[in-house]
Amino acid sequence: MATLKKVNSITKGSDLAIICTKWSNKPEYGIDNSVSTYIANEIKEKEKKFVSVNHLGRLIFVTLVDSKKAEAPAKETQRKNGCAISDTLNANKSKQIAIVNESGHDDYCLALAEGIALANYQFLRHKPSGKKSINTLNAISILDKKCSDKEISNLNIIVDATCKARDLVNEPVNILNATDLANAFKNFGKQAGFKVEIFNKAKIQQLKMGGLLSVNQGSVDPPTFTIMEYKPKNAKNKNPYVLVGKGVVYDTGGLSLKPTPNSMDLMKCDMGGAAAVGATLYAIAKAKLNVHVIGLVPATDNRPGFNAFAPGDIITMMDGSTVEMLNSDAEGRMILADALHYAKRYEPKLTIDLATLTGAAAAAIGQYGIVGMGTASEKQKDKLKESGFNVHERIAEFPFWDEYDDLMKSDIADMKNIGGPYGGAITAGKFLAKFTNYPYFHLDIAGPAFTTGKDSYRGKGGTGVGVRLLFDFFSKND
Ligand code: BES
Ligand code: MN
Ligand code: ZN
Repeated sequence: MATLKKVNSITKGSDLAIICTKWSNKPEYGIDNSVSTYIANEIKEKEKKFVSVNHLGRLIFVTLVDSKKAEAPAKETQRKNGCAISDTLNANKSKQIAIVNESGHDDYCLALAEGIALANYQFLRHKPSGKKSINTLNAISILDKKCSDKEISNLNIIVDATCKARDLVNEPVNILNATDLANAFKNFGKQAGFKVEIFNKAKIQQLKMGGLLSVNQGSVDPPTFTIMEYKPKNAKNKNPYVLVGKGVVYDTGGLSLKPTPNSMDLMKCDMGGAAAVGATLYAIAKAKLNVHVIGLVPATDNRPGFNAFAPGDIITMMDGSTVEMLNSDAEGRMILADALHYAKRYEPKLTIDLATLTGAAAAAIGQYGIVGMGTASEKQKDKLKESGFNVHERIAEFPFWDEYDDLMKSDIADMKNIGGPYGGAITAGKFLAKFTNYPYFHLDIAGPAFTTGKDSYRGKGGTGVGVRLLFDFFSKND
């Protein structure tokens, strides 16, 4: 990981990224006039806003920004420039970069640094040591009087937490099953300072979590239910926020088996919501935010093993309601329903779930955003959406009209676990809302949780989506 730190001067000859509103060379940069003229030409003649130069092995980057405070799209441009910088630095085996911010606005600097640090992520645990090509970049120095120590330490935490979530998503099910996932959260708790309790199968049975147990029937690995709690003494919220993460460590579809290409082969990502919840608790505890947050993660794999739940089965959920299970590939809602019911005991101020829940959400808006919906207040929704724009994990709100409830009706049980052919992301959300009695917002991250090709600083594979969004939300709300 590349660590960010504040510095007061540029080390002579160090690789440099300069953020400015217009290009002018300064003696402290140590940049030759010929190079400066080249940069000026690139900007003027070619109308470039981002210039990259390799001068006798020294890497220099210039990024031009507005004189105004950065709006969300401008910050995203800087994160992407950060990715280009990180790639170039590593290709040239550079170990560190200094960012000089001449723009007068710390947002640009923080966004550029964030992009560099997140793009530097690699998942190399399973590469033999001889074959690892490890990124060399390990330090990002920041020269910006406007950037506070707190902002920089928080950014280090956000990057660290996002990478932890990515690691969990990238780990396949033969390495990370439900118990391993729960243990990973236990470690997060130890490292960051929050409470973690893990329910084993016996306890889950005792609690009658019928939804979670039904999905687990076809598996040889037991399920887990993890409760994380960060409750600082100075918490500003009386009622806690509850985060619920879908922890399907692998989704074969069960007896309603998925095809392999571009479907089952990606399904180690089906605990992306759980990873985001655990990593968010890690981040807010490390940053010591003044907010009381509880994280709940029901976890299991979904497999067509011998006693696998079968389409047509009627399942009694933890809340006592019955579900006619007509498609075992709609398993996420079965395990989340019990967690959402469990959340009632906390009388949450707001419950947010994160789940790679439906292909329909991904089909509707692609990988470019999160599909959101729910019963939260307009104010809560607006704040979540605002955080979404701010960190570029945007939320597209879908309708939550009553008519969609009708699509989940069953003749022989309280509900079916699938709706009709249309509005699949919404019927899934409606199913979940049935198990809530508090302000609720559902985030379907099926689109952005996992990329099959490099997507700028989000990289390839697990993106850690949700962590930056929730950290931003909690750092502004109580
Ligand atoms: N885990 C999948 C959803 C998913 C799809 C996540 C693509 C990430 C990328 C989920 O469990 C699922 O299979 N949903 C079904 C629901 C259907 C059977 C009602 C789907 O979307 O097809
Ligand atoms: Mn499924
Ligand atoms: Zn799934």
